[in-house]
Amino acid sequence: MTSKHEKLNAWVEEIRTLCRPGSVVWCDGSQKEYDEMIAITVNEGLAKPLDPEKRPGCVLFRSDPSDVARVENRTYIASRTQDQAGPTNNWIDPDQLKETMKGLYDGCMAGRTMYVIPFSMGPVGSPIAKIGIEITDSPYVVANMHIMTRVGGRVLEILGADGEFVPCLHSVGKPLAPGETDGGLWPCAPLDKKYISHFPEERTIWSYGSGYGGNALLGKKCLALRIASVMARDEGWLAEHMLILAITNPEGKRRYVAAAFPSACGKTNLAMLVPTVPGWKVETIGDDIAWMKFDEDGVLRAINPENGFFGVAPGTSMDSNPNAMKSIEKNTIFTNVALTEDNDIWWEGIGYDAPAGKIIDWKGNEWDRNPEKKGDRAAAHPNSRFTAPAKQCPVIAPEWEDPRGVPISAFLFGGRRPSTIPLVHQAFDWNHGVFLGSIVGSEVTAAALDVTAGTVRRDPFAMLPFCGYHMGDYFKHWVKIGTRTEAAKLPKIFYVNWFRKSAEGKFIWPGYGENSRVLQWVFDQCEGTGKAQKTDIGWMPTPDAIDRPEGVTEEDMKSILSVDREGWKRELGLVREHYAKFGDRMPAELLAQLEALEQRLS
Ligand code: OXD
Ligand code: MN
Repeated sequence: MTSKHEKLNAWVEEIRTLCRPGSVVWCDGSQKEYDEMIAITVNEGLAKPLDPEKRPGCVLFRSDPSDVARVENRTYIASRTQDQAGPTNNWIDPDQLKETMKGLYDGCMAGRTMYVIPFSMGPVGSPIAKIGIEITDSPYVVANMHIMTRVGGRVLEILGADGEFVPCLHSVGKPLAPGETDGGLWPCAPLDKKYISHFPEERTIWSYGSGYGGNALLGKKCLALRIASVMARDEGWLAEHMLILAITNPEGKRRYVAAAFPSACGKTNLAMLVPTVPGWKVETIGDDIAWMKFDEDGVLRAINPENGFFGVAPGTSMDSNPNAMKSIEKNTIFTNVALTEDNDIWWEGIGYDAPAGKIIDWKGNEWDRNPEKKGDRAAAHPNSRFTAPAKQCPVIAPEWEDPRGVPISAFLFGGRRPSTIPLVHQAFDWNHGVFLGSIVGSEVTAAALDVTAGTVRRDPFAMLPFCGYHMGDYFKHWVKIGTRTEAAKLPKIFYVNWFRKSAEGKFIWPGYGENSRVLQWVFDQCEGTGKAQKTDIGWMPTPDAIDRPEGVTEEDMKSILSVDREGWKRELGLVREHYAKFGDRMPAELLAQLEALEQRLS
C-alpha cells in the first residue's frame, strides 16, 4: 500500500479481492510509468509507435469495432429512485445494478495488472478541483489518464489520511486464462455486457466492458460531468460541458467566454480559433469541460478540470484547426485513425489526400482507395481521436492552470441548426439565457454509438448525455445560480448558430476563424460598446455590427441575422413538446419565458 488513507486502502483491497488481478500497481504519474504503459501495449501488439522523426513520442491504437464511442444506451444513472435520474437518463435500481455488475467484476482482472490511478480534476490543490481514484486493468487507460488528468503522488499527499475522493472502478471485462495474452486484439466485452454506471448519492462510478474514451477514462464524462453535476447542484456551483477561451481585443483588454455545444459541433475548433479580425487574439483554457464557482466578490470563475485534449480527428486540418494540428505533433495517442506506409497518421478531412503507398484503415485492413467503394469504409473511424497534452497547444493561455480560475464574462450556447436560429442573439437577462440553454438542439453525431445520425435532438445545455440527475432540477439549479450574485456580475448569455444552410443546402456562414466576428460582437456587448437592436427573440447585432466575411453576400447576412418569425413559431411548439417531458419538474421561470416569447411573436 502506498496510501495513508485507510478508506482508500480498504476500497482497493475490496476491489482486488473481487476482480482477482495478477498484481496491483499504484500509479505515480511519472514519464517512466507512461513509457512502461506504452511499452506493454506495444509488446502486446495493441499499439504501434509512429515514425519518431515525424511524430516523436506518438502511438496508434486500434480498438474493437464494437468499442469505438460512448455507449449512451449502456450508460446508467443509478440513483435511489428513477425519478431522481429523470426522463433523459437510463436508470436501473442501484442494488440490482450492483448485483449484476459484481457478477461481471468477479475475477474479471484475471491475468492482468490492476492499476490504481490517483488523479486530480483541475490544477492540483485548486479550491475548485476534485480528486478521483481510478482502478483499471487497462494500460491504455493509464496512459490516457496521464495526459487527460493530473496523476500521481502529489494527489495522494493532498488527499492525506481522510480527504474526499470519487472512487472510479473500470475493467475492460476480458479476463485472461493462464498463459493467454490479448494477442494484438483490443480487449473489451460484448455490447450487452458493457455498463457505464453512476451512483450519484454515493458519488461512485463503475464501468465495465469498454476500453474507449468517455466509457473508460472515468475522469472526463463520468466524473467531471455526471457525478460533478450532482456535486455542483448540492454545493452551489456549475459543472458544464463547455469550452473556455480567453479573448483579447486590440487594446489589450482580456475577457473569458465559456461555450456549450453538443458533442462534435466544433468546441475544440472554437477554443483554438485563429481570428480573422485583425488585432484580436483568442487563447485556449479548455475545450470540453468547465467547472465554475463564485468567488468572494460574487464573480463566477472557471477552471478546465482536464489536462489534455481528447479530440475528434476527422475534419481536423491546418485549415480547420491549425493549433490542434500543432498540438498533436508529438507525445500524442491516436486511436482508430488510419496509418500510412511511412508510419504516420491520416484521416478524412486532414487537408491533403492520402499519401502514396499502403494505407491501413482503423480496422487494421489495407484501405481501398477507390472512392466508389469508400462509403462506410472510411480510412479513419468518424469518432477516431487524438489524446494530446493541453500544454502542447501553441495558443494555450498562460493562466490556463490558475487555481483560482478565470472570470467568465459570457456564455455561448449553440448547436447545428440548419434553419430558424440566427447567427447570434443575446438573452435579455439571466432567466431568458437559461431558457436559451434549455432549448439547445443539434444534429446527432458519431460521438454516440446508439443514435440515428442525421436527425435533430434536443440537447439542453449540451448536457443531455452528461447530466447526473433530473434535467428539470438541473434547469432549476441554473435559475437559482442567477440569484447568487448581483445581476451585473453574472455572465451575459448568447445563442450562436454557425450552421445555417441555404435553400440549396449549403452552409451560409464560413465558420472556423470567421467566428471571431461573432466573438468580437459578444465581447463588445460585454463592454457595453456593441451595436445591438432589440428584437422579439433577444438582442441582435445591427446590420453594420458584424463585418461580412468573404463570400457572404449582404442578402446572406440578412437571412442569418433576421428573426424568422414563422420558424420561431414552429419552434415554440417543439419546445413545448420538449418541456412536457419534464412534467411538473419544469421550473415556472422557464415556462414563463416560453409564454413571454409566444406573446412577443404573436
Ligand atoms: C466528447 C463528447 O468526447 O462530447 O467530448 O462526446
Ligand atoms: Mn464533449
